[in-house]
Amino acid sequence: MKKKRTTNKGSEHMNVLIIGAGYVGLTTAAVIAKLGHTVHCVDENEQKIAALTRGDVPIYEPGLAELLTDHKSRLFFHRDGQKHIHEADVIFICVGTPPDNNGKSDVSYVNRAVAALLPHLHDQQTLVIKSTVPIGTNERIYERLTKEGKNVRVVSNPEFLREGSAIFDSLYPDRIVVGLRDDDDRSLSVMQTLYARIHAPYVVTSLSGAEMIKYAANAFLAMKISFINEMARLCEAYDVDVAHVAKGIGLDGRIGPHFLQAGIGYGGSCFPKDVAALQQMAYEKAVRPYMIEATKTINDTQFYWYVQKIKRTLGTLSDKRIAVLGIAFKPNTDDIRESPAVSLIKALHNLGAHVVAHDPKAVLPNGMDIKQTKTIDEALQQADAVIVATDWDAYKQLNWEQVRQTMSGNVVVDGRNSLPRNDIIQAGLTYVGVGRG
Ligand code: UDX
Ligand code: UDX
Repeated sequence: MKKKRTTNKGSEHMNVLIIGAGYVGLTTAAVIAKLGHTVHCVDENEQKIAALTRGDVPIYEPGLAELLTDHKSRLFFHRDGQKHIHEADVIFICVGTPPDNNGKSDVSYVNRAVAALLPHLHDQQTLVIKSTVPIGTNERIYERLTKEGKNVRVVSNPEFLREGSAIFDSLYPDRIVVGLRDDDDRSLSVMQTLYARIHAPYVVTSLSGAEMIKYAANAFLAMKISFINEMARLCEAYDVDVAHVAKGIGLDGRIGPHFLQAGIGYGGSCFPKDVAALQQMAYEKAVRPYMIEATKTINDTQFYWYVQKIKRTLGTLSDKRIAVLGIAFKPNTDDIRESPAVSLIKALHNLGAHVVAHDPKAVLPNGMDIKQTKTIDEALQQADAVIVATDWDAYKQLNWEQVRQTMSGNVVVDGRNSLPRNDIIQAGLTYVGVGRG
C-alpha cells in the first residue's frame, strides 16, 4: 500500500492542480501551498505564467507576493498542465465566469476546462469547482463526467474572498461550504484533509445548494449596501446623518454593523455580476426577484444620483476642474472591474467637467480621455472640487489644511463617507458626504 506523505505540519500531504491563475486561482494556490500541499497552477495566459515563473505577481493583493515567495518550493506554474493532471489528488477549477450581454453567467471557460481535463481524469480524483457558476452547473459537470465513464467526485466549494483581504479570508474563513452529491461519502473528508489546518465550521449541502449559498451571500451583502444607500437618499431629504443611522441599526445584533457604509455604490468582479446572474436565474424559473431587482436598480443609479448632487453643490459642472481620488472599485486593490469610481469619472467628464484622476494602484481603463496623475498633490492643483471615490487610507489621512492651500475651490466630496468631516470643516473646506444632511 502506498504510504501517505504528510506535510511538515503533520497533516496529510496532497497534490493539487489549479486551473486558472486569476485573482481567485492564484490566492487559492498560494494558500494551499502554505497549508503544506504541492500545487501546480495552470493558466492559458502565457504572459501571466511567464511572470509568475519569474516571481512577479500580476495582480496587487496584500500579502500574496510574500506568500508565493515563501512557498515557492511547492508551487509550480504552467501554461499547459496536462502532464500534472494524473498525479493530482484534487483539481480546482478557478477560471472566470464573466457575465454575457443579458447578465447571465458565461460558463464556457469552465466547460472548456472540464473538456481539457476529461481524458486524463481517473477515479481517485476529486474535481472542485470554485468558480461561481449558475445553479445546476456542478450537477451537469458530474453528469458529463459520468457519461464519459469517469467516476470522479465533483465538489462545489465556493469562495467568499474579499479583494484586499483575500489571504486573510482564505486562512480564517467564517465557514467552508462543501456541496456534494448524496451518494458521495468521500469528498467531505478529502476537503477536510486539504483544509486540515484551517479552523472553520463546515456547511455541507448539495452541489446546487452550495452554488445557491454563494449567490445568496453576495446578493444579501449587495442588498445591505443598496438598502443603506436608499436610506442615504432618504436621510438627505430629511436632513439626517446616515452614518448615525448605520451605527444605530448596526449595533442591533440581528442586523450587524457590516456592509452598511453608504457611498457611490458597490462594484468589483462579484457583486454586480452575481446579482445580475441571480436575477436572470430567477426569470428563467418565472420567479420575480423583487429584492434583487431593487438592489440592482439602486446601485445602478447611485453614482448618478451623486453626480446630480455634486452638480447642485458646484452650480454647474461645465469647465470645473474636479480631482477624483480613487479609480479602483475599493481600496487595497488595483481592480477596476465595475468600479463606481470609473462610472463617476465618465459621467462628470460627459457633463463637461475637467476631470483629473488619481489612484495609488489602479489605472484608468484604456481609451478614456482623462488625465491620471502620479501624485495626489498634482491632482489637487487648481481643483474646484475634490471627490474621494475610493476610500484608500492615503486619502483618509490627507492634511486638509494643505489640501485647501493646493486647491482653487473649497468643496470636498466624500463619496465613501470615510473622511474626517470635522477636520475638513475646520480647515475651511465645505464637506459634502453621502446622505449626511
Ligand atoms: C473568479 C471566478 O472563479 C469567478 O467565477 C468568480 O465569480 C470570481 O472569481 P477571477 O479569479 O476574478 O474569477 O477571474 P480572472 O481574474 O478573470 O482569472 C481567470 C483566469 O483563468 C485567467 O488568468 C485566465 O487566463 C484563466 N483561464 C481562463 C484559463 O486558464 N483557462 C480558461 O479556459 C479560461
Ligand atoms: C465580495 C464579497 O465580499 C466576497 O465574499 C465575494 O466572494 C466576492 O465579492 P469584493 O468584491 O472583493 O468581495 O469586495 P467587498 O469588500 O465585498 O466590496 C464590494 C463593493 O461594495 C466595493 O465596491 C465596496 O466599496 C462596496 N461596499 C462595501 C460599500 O459600498 N459599502 C459597504 O459597507 C461595503
